[in-house]
Amino acid sequence: MSLPKAELHLHIEGTLEPELAFELAARNGVELPYADTDTLRKAYRFEDLQSFLNLYYELMAVLRTERDFEDLANAYLARAAAQGVRHAEIFFDPQAHLARGVEMGTVVEGLGRALEHSQAVHGVSTQLIMCFLRDESAASALETLEAAKPYLDRIVGVGLDSAEVGHPPAKFREVYEAAAAMGLRRVAHAGEEGPPEYIVEALDVLGVERIDHGLRCMESPTLVERLVRDRVPLTLCPLSNVRLRTVDVLGDHPLPAMLDAGLMCTVNSDDPAYFGGYAGDNFEAVRVALGLGEEQLRELARNSFLASFLEHDEGLRAR
Ligand code: ADE
Ligand code: ZN
Repeated sequence: MSLPKAELHLHIEGTLEPELAFELAARNGVELPYADTDTLRKAYRFEDLQSFLNLYYELMAVLRTERDFEDLANAYLARAAAQGVRHAEIFFDPQAHLARGVEMGTVVEGLGRALEHSQAVHGVSTQLIMCFLRDESAASALETLEAAKPYLDRIVGVGLDSAEVGHPPAKFREVYEAAAAMGLRRVAHAGEEGPPEYIVEALDVLGVERIDHGLRCMESPTLVERLVRDRVPLTLCPLSNVRLRTVDVLGDHPLPAMLDAGLMCTVNSDDPAYFGGYAGDNFEAVRVALGLGEEQLRELARNSFLASFLEHDEGLRAR
């Protein structure tokens, strides 16, 4: 679906298609434990978030050089542009790369090479959001923020991702305070698999401006009331929710109820190479499965620009 939209919840490592994974594996002499792209694609059956994360981290082994990150981002931007994305706020997971001996500079410079020319080449404006892995320690997050200091002119904000349950937002209070003091914007995954209390903590303790996913807010009427009152954007990812089994089938997705409740919802792709679709595919899937009308689809697209970190007049231009 080519309705102009901003994508606000997209992990660049989750855009690694099997074909590019094999190309990069060959280029870097990395052995993948899959015979070919078809066999790899067949492994994309997940029980939950953790079973997906295991494969997501395993495949990152092929990303080694600046050129790899540049190629990855270019491939994403071309696909996103073809589906109407005009602005993308792109997550990356530096700790997963640092742990493999790939430096922060390799990741940021590589992505930066693609992002620098994105407006001219793809017609897509971009920003980068650096995520901390919540199943790693708070000290590791602080070290990562320190390692990012030379690159802060390229990074608009910080986020929090990876295995949610058992890793409440409050664990990262200090690093979020430090990030805020550096002028970085703040978002966090919350309420994907974790309880509504994690959403409250992300708002109250981490001071986030958007909640990534936030699906489980629907279990708490008082939280819904607060999110509606404060116009807190939720970056929903419908196809991801089905693939990771937070929702049984797309027809059961609470998006229509969330819109009816007055929540500021946006629709995004999360890890499109793994979950069966890019931003436009997610819009089209909810249109068909949930019977969303033209007005609701326009509302979702309008929300995506309003909830973005673009300055207001830039947002209007991108639209
Ligand atoms: N990392 C990549 N995709 C993620 C998701 N959907 N939830 C948490 N961490 C992630
Ligand atoms: Zn995500």
